[in-house]
Amino acid sequence: MFAGKVRKMKSIVRYSDAFVVNIEPTNACNLRCVHCGDDKKRKIGFITPELFEKVSIQCRGKEIRPFMSGEPLMHKGIFDLIKIATKYSSRVVLHTNATLLDEKKANALVESGIQFVSISFDGLTKEEYEGNRKGANFESVSENISRFLKINNKKVHVTVQRIIKKGEPAIGVEKLFDGANVYSVIVRHSWDVRGRVEGCKSHTNYDRYCFFPWNYIPVLWNGDVCLCCADLNGKCIIGDINKDSLEKIWNGPQMVSIRDRMIRGIPIPEICSGCERYNP
Ligand SMILES: C[S@@+](CC[C@H](N)C(=O)[O-])C[C@H]1O[C@@H](n2cnc3c(N)ncnc32)[C@H](O)[C@@H]1O
Ligand code: SF4
Ligand code: SF4
Repeated sequence: MFAGKVRKMKSIVRYSDAFVVNIEPTNACNLRCVHCGDDKKRKIGFITPELFEKVSIQCRGKEIRPFMSGEPLMHKGIFDLIKIATKYSSRVVLHTNATLLDEKKANALVESGIQFVSISFDGLTKEEYEGNRKGANFESVSENISRFLKINNKKVHVTVQRIIKKGEPAIGVEKLFDGANVYSVIVRHSWDVRGRVEGCKSHTNYDRYCFFPWNYIPVLWNGDVCLCCADLNGKCIIGDINKDSLEKIWNGPQMVSIRDRMIRGIPIPEICSGCERYNP
């Protein structure tokens, strides 16, 4: 069975097989969450609308995710960026910590044309939430979320996601908020913890290789294209969208070599060796 899958997962793949492109508005963030994979050592910056559109044009037929690391609502032009994304993609998905989601921004988000919003809220109590999401205020963010859900009135699909520690009961935050479509729970440090946790959406991959290098493309605010959306620190840069097209980068020698090594189970980028999505 494995051999059959490997045959299908060639090193050189059609660009159309990539179905998600993350475009990072900014890596600036107002929080310091305990589980965050960003070591905050990258130069802070904000994507220009021109660069954002240059990437979006190349994303026809793909899902655009205007986030990577950082808090997307810290980009002053975020709603214009979302509107650009919706010109080229029929599925635009945002992840936010909701700290800046005041009434004006809540209205702008609902009206932006976005299809899916995921809100990160990691805690059932003030103590737990503020212990995980360092710098956030439980009452203020709860108010932002409740107001947004009311304004949204199920127009845009909304998930409120809670990350838990391995071993904790998998309880979502539906008791705190009313009006989301889904309340999901995932395991904290899920990118570097292996194993299934009851009731949780774990990312653990039980195949030998990870499918991300075949399907996902992340572009950082400065145009660097990195290996995957778990590479929040941009440690594995594959190309530069200012110089080459996404398609060219996608099937360039570096990506082909990474896929090839992943299929064969031979040394892969350092970042993959500790990641739960790769099981050599
Ligand atoms: C990188 S953040 C960017 C958007 C926004 N700042 C937020 O917190 O929602 C996107 C999602 O990745 C999650 N995340 C960050 N580091 C992670 C890690 N090491 N393991 C699992 N999830 C992680 C965050 O909790 C958040 O839900
Ligand atoms: S998880 Fe999101 S909000 Fe928290 S530090 Fe990382 S980027 Fe910022
Ligand atoms: S195994 Fe590698 S490519 Fe896959 S998600 Fe992990 S770091 Fe990214």
